[in-house]
Amino acid sequence: MTDLDRDDLVTAIRSAIASAPNPGAAMTQAVRLLKDAIPYYSWVGIYLLDGNELVLGPFLGKPSPHTRIPLGNGICGAAATEKATIVVDDVNADPRYLACSIETKSEIVVPIMEDGEVLGEIDIDSDTPAAFGDADRQLLEQVAALLAESLSEE
Ligand code: SME
Repeated sequence: MTDLDRDDLVTAIRSAIASAPNPGAAMTQAVRLLKDAIPYYSWVGIYLLDGNELVLGPFLGKPSPHTRIPLGNGICGAAATEKATIVVDDVNADPRYLACSIETKSEIVVPIMEDGEVLGEIDIDSDTPAAFGDADRQLLEQVAALLAESLSEE
């Protein structure tokens, strides 16, 4: 995907979020647009922080056994605790990794933050090793910022 295509995707996600009737619908639309646009995004989901747990919201891909992840666990828990994007090129070499599907090879987790507080995160798995680069990080951090606006207006 070219930078221009990614700009178009951000524009499409921005307008879908803006016209969504509520934050749940906004998250569902963002997940759908990301999953449809990028073939190597094998699993796309959003977790929301509820107390000390991340709770799975909208997702596309195989059902995950990890519907509630305590903050101390997994790559998801690490990204929320560190308040920073985490890219893992080889999930099987990362001791933090909680397996969702045997096919998954790499993962990116991007916190959704408002005023320094984590509201949730975007979690994407790929069946391709080392699938996620700077362009994915930039794209997903932009989408996370749009979702943060939507979630904080609740
Ligand atoms: N792999 C994640 C768990 C979520 S599933 O990938 C959907 C983790 O290690 O936190």
